[in-house]
Amino acid sequence: MTVRTICCIGAGYVGGPTMAVMADRCPHIQVTLVDLNAERIAAWNDADLSKLPVYEPGLADVVARCRGRNLHFTTEVDGAIAAADMVFLSVNTPTKRRGLGAGQASDLRWIEASARQVAAQAMGHTIVVEKSTLPVRTAETIQSILSASQDSSEAESKTFSVLSNPEFLAEGTAISDLEDPDRVLIGGDDANAIDALVEIYSRWVSPERILRTNLWSSELSKLTANAFLAQRISSINAIGALCEATGADVKEVARAIGADSRLGPKFLSAGPGFGGSCFRKDILNLVYLCRHYGLEQAAHYWEQVVDLNSWQQQRIARLVVSRLFGTVSGKRLAVLGFAFKADTNDTRESPAIGICRDLLEEGAHLAIHDPKVGPDQVAADLGREAAASRLGLADEGSWQSAAGVLDAVEGADAVIVLTEWHQFAELDWTAIVARMRRPAWLFDVRGVTDAEAARAAGLRVWLVGEG
Ligand code: UDX
Ligand code: ADP
Repeated sequence: MTVRTICCIGAGYVGGPTMAVMADRCPHIQVTLVDLNAERIAAWNDADLSKLPVYEPGLADVVARCRGRNLHFTTEVDGAIAAADMVFLSVNTPTKRRGLGAGQASDLRWIEASARQVAAQAMGHTIVVEKSTLPVRTAETIQSILSASQDSSEAESKTFSVLSNPEFLAEGTAISDLEDPDRVLIGGDDANAIDALVEIYSRWVSPERILRTNLWSSELSKLTANAFLAQRISSINAIGALCEATGADVKEVARAIGADSRLGPKFLSAGPGFGGSCFRKDILNLVYLCRHYGLEQAAHYWEQVVDLNSWQQQRIARLVVSRLFGTVSGKRLAVLGFAFKADTNDTRESPAIGICRDLLEEGAHLAIHDPKVGPDQVAADLGREAAASRLGLADEGSWQSAAGVLDAVEGADAVIVLTEWHQFAELDWTAIVARMRRPAWLFDVRGVTDAEAARAAGLRVWLVGEG
């Protein structure tokens, strides 16, 4: 079977970049991204490429090449499904907030709704591909929804194959991860359907990097990869705290252990704890699954990775308060970076949210600057509007958005770096100190600034993982 038309349900951080690269590499395939969110679709169609809903280095160029040629964005979900040989499900799957499994299990309502829509609208044979990260055995749910529609007599000619093809891209490097993936994983048991998807990826990925597994291995591999990566971050953050207490330097320790080829040098940066839409959700999913199968020790083991991460986030705010003479009430603090990592406008699960909330709770006045996150998003995440002006000594904190670093630091007692944007490595500390109130502090929670230059300029410096 050769695929000529693709529909992807969900035009978010995963669906958008993934389909853009697929359209770019497969000009013979018509790719349509659909989403219920009309505002999001309008932004994908905006003539001004700086308004795309997802910021990723290189994404605008890919969209510019393909949009209108073989890459389309629409809210017409039904028509796009009917026309498609292959449908990708790339909808959101957040952690459940209420009911059975609340706080741990994934909320599958969007997956189920989109599977039902595919069941109703598809025509002929359709390959359905899970792209969203899902709990193990979700393909079974999708399969039963699809086969129920196959049973009804008026739909005799309708048939489906379900594949799992998890996405391993990391935000901020999505385009290069998609163009040059370490591996592409395809799980399923219909060899023809797998071949059809392999044929698509083969246009730009070498065959030895395309792995075939059964459905459940594929689903579990995605959860496992994220759990191992997150575990590495909790491990280095735990060691970072020990470095601070003992006089060791976490960067030196990371370099030393990373030289061991069995460990490798990547993913060893201490920081404010991991954020992003995947790690926490996927580990909690794994914990839920382990408990479901009666594996309490295994569940408890993975739970610790999340607990350590929460502890790391909480200790940052406490530490800032204690260094600033035990109170930040009414003090202006410049927060540099709000995205969960550099090179993205995504703030989901960003450690900045919890840290800023804790500081607001202590009565601080925050001046927040992020190169790609706007004030509306910050307000939504903090659950409060920006203040019209700076308040005096107050019990309740407040925040304002700062257009640039120098605006943020004006009259501030401290600079707190929460995201590793590369521009924060090149700050002019002499100019910054001149605008701050003394004693002025730098809390570099990412270890990205030129701490020596900051010290030389007269700042007191706290660096994550530095004893
Ligand atoms: C992750 C996985 O890397 C990706 O394969 C999967 O598809 C989705 O989840 P993502 O969350 O986009 O990707 O970014 P990632 O680079 O993994 O960073 C996650 C979090 O860990 C960020 O908050 C980042 O700042 C933090 N991190 C990462 C560290 O604190 N230290 C590190 O050394 C690396
Ligand atoms: P991810 O990071 O996994 O891409 P996002 O939340 O960025 O997650 O994107 C998921 C998108 O899926 C959202 O834009 C949401 O509107 C869309 N979506 C969810 N359910 C449906 C559905 N049934 N039909 C079309 N779009 C959907």
